[in-house]
Formats: sequence, C-alpha cells, structure tokens
Amino acid sequence: MTDTHFSGKTALVTGAGSGIGQASALAFAAKGARVMVTDINGDAAEETVRQITAAGGEAAARKVDATSAEEVEALIQATLDRFGSLDFAHNNVGCGTGKALEDIGPADYDFTMNLSFKSVFLGMRYQLPVMRERGGGVIVNTASMAGVSTTQAADIVYSGAKAGVIQMTAHAARAYGQHNIRVNCIAPGLVATPIISQMFTPEQQIEMASDHIIKRPVRPEEIAAAVIFLCSAEAAMITGLVLPVDGGQNAMR
Ligand SMILES: NC(=O)c1ccc[n+]([C@@H]2O[C@H](COP(=O)([O-])OP(=O)(O)OC[C@H]3O[C@@H](n4cnc5c(N)ncnc54)[C@H](O)[C@@H]3O)[C@@H](O)[C@H]2O)c1
Repeated sequence: MTDTHFSGKTALVTGAGSGIGQASALAFAAKGARVMVTDINGDAAEETVRQITAAGGEAAARKVDATSAEEVEALIQATLDRFGSLDFAHNNVGCGTGKALEDIGPADYDFTMNLSFKSVFLGMRYQLPVMRERGGGVIVNTASMAGVSTTQAADIVYSGAKAGVIQMTAHAARAYGQHNIRVNCIAPGLVATPIISQMFTPEQQIEMASDHIIKRPVRPEEIAAAVIFLCSAEAAMITGLVLPVDGGQNAMR
C-alpha cells in the first residue's frame, strides 16, 4: 500500500537482483518509492525491475559492482539524474565462503571482506555526503547474526566483516545524526534465499534453523519488512541500532 512517507521518494538497493535485496526493492516500490535496483548481475537487476513495473511501481536497473569505488560513486550521480533525490539506501551486498579457518586462503579473505565490509563502507562513503547536502535520509545496512553470535554456520572472516558492519553503522549514525540522517542495520538469521539454497539442502536449512526459537528459515519478505520499518516515520527515533530478524536466534545465545 502506498505510503506518503515513501511515495515520490527514492530508494537505492544494492544486491537487488536476488534474495533479500530483491525483496527489499519490491517492498520499497510497494510503498510508493522509486527504486534504483543495482546488482553486479545486470540481468538479475532487470528482472527485479520487471517485477516492480508489473506490480505498478517505478524502478530503474543499473549494473554496479558494489566493491568498486568508481562504480558506487557514479551510481549515486546516476540515481540523482534519474530520480532527482536519494532518500533511502539499503547496502545489502555480502557473502562469505563458509570455509573452516584453516581452509581460508588470501583470495577467500579478499572475496569476503570486499563483498561484506568494503561494499557497505563504499555505499555509505558516497551516500552520506549526498544525503547531508540534501537535508537528510535513512540508510539500512545488511549485517548478519553471524556478526553478533558464533552460533550460525558462518566462516570467521564473514563473522568479523559483519561485526564490522554493525560498528560502522553505529559510527555513521553518530557522525551524521546531526544532519537528519539515521543509519541502522539488520541482522538476519538464516534466510531462505537462492545463495542458501545453492549451499545447503532443505534438510540442512532446517537443521541450521534449529538456532532459531522459531524453527524455520526467515523469509526474504520478512527481512524486507524490517528494512521498511527502519526507514519509516515510525522509526524516527531509532538510529545506530542492529535489529535481529532471526526467529529469536539472538535470545538463544
Ligand atoms: N541468506 C541468509 O541466510 C543471510 C543471513 C544473514 C545475512 N545475510 C546477508 O544478506 C545479504 C543478501 O544475502 P542473500 O542471501 O539475499 O544473497 P543472494 O545471493 O540471494 O543475493 C545477493 C545478490 O548480490 C549480488 N552481488 C554479488 N556480488 C555483488 C557485487 N560485488 N556488487 C553488487 N551485487 C553483487 C548477486 O548478484 C545477488 O543478486 C548479504 O549481505 C548476506 O551476507 C544473508
């Protein structure tokens, strides 16, 4: 349902061609926001835009590597050129290898840190000055329960990167709060997205969700709902927060 807080405003989502990012882009559009749908997979971004348009929403696709400073900087200008504003940003790209510590090589380390930490830094690096100049905005970063606890099947570099996302979020919230900018992050538990389906069988996913009080994987739409809440007027006094969306995994620590 269109919401006056979102309608006519612009949301940017990274990694929006699949899983959580796609659900987030669809949710922003359903609220009436215009969405800049970005992904390193241009076809996947186009598919998300197709779904938004089919539902009556407005969106544009752009192929962007969220780990490239040049591409992320150009994306901000492209968003302003296309939609005239940047009001909400969801920095969502991230991935680990799931490898045991002793199997993690230099390339695995770089892959995980670039995707899970650098991409969020670059997003905020170029979004925050523009939001400040334009009078405010809201950012949501995708962290993970792996950055909060050690209970999830995640590798050590991914866990550290996501813990870093949580701290970068708090830092940015403190530094930019005076400019009418809120910055929060979400910490999903196990979410039933394509990458998880590729890595784990349905039986393994149920076993991994045994970390949750509610013993099933989280649905991407349930993560998107939390992103929308954090961007909403109702969350006006919430900033610097890490919000678990994890079926209660946080309480099982
Ligand atoms: N699925 C889970 O259980 C889970 C749990 C906790 C946190 N997360 C986090 O949620 C986020 C999204 O995960 P997902 O499960 O939806 O993944 P996904 O694989 O379904 O989607 C990720 C998307 O990011 C895109 N992408 C990959 N590298 C990119 C890059 N360099 N630049 C731009 N786009 C790129 C992919 O093409 C893909 O469309 C990640 O940060 C992940 O760490 C996921």
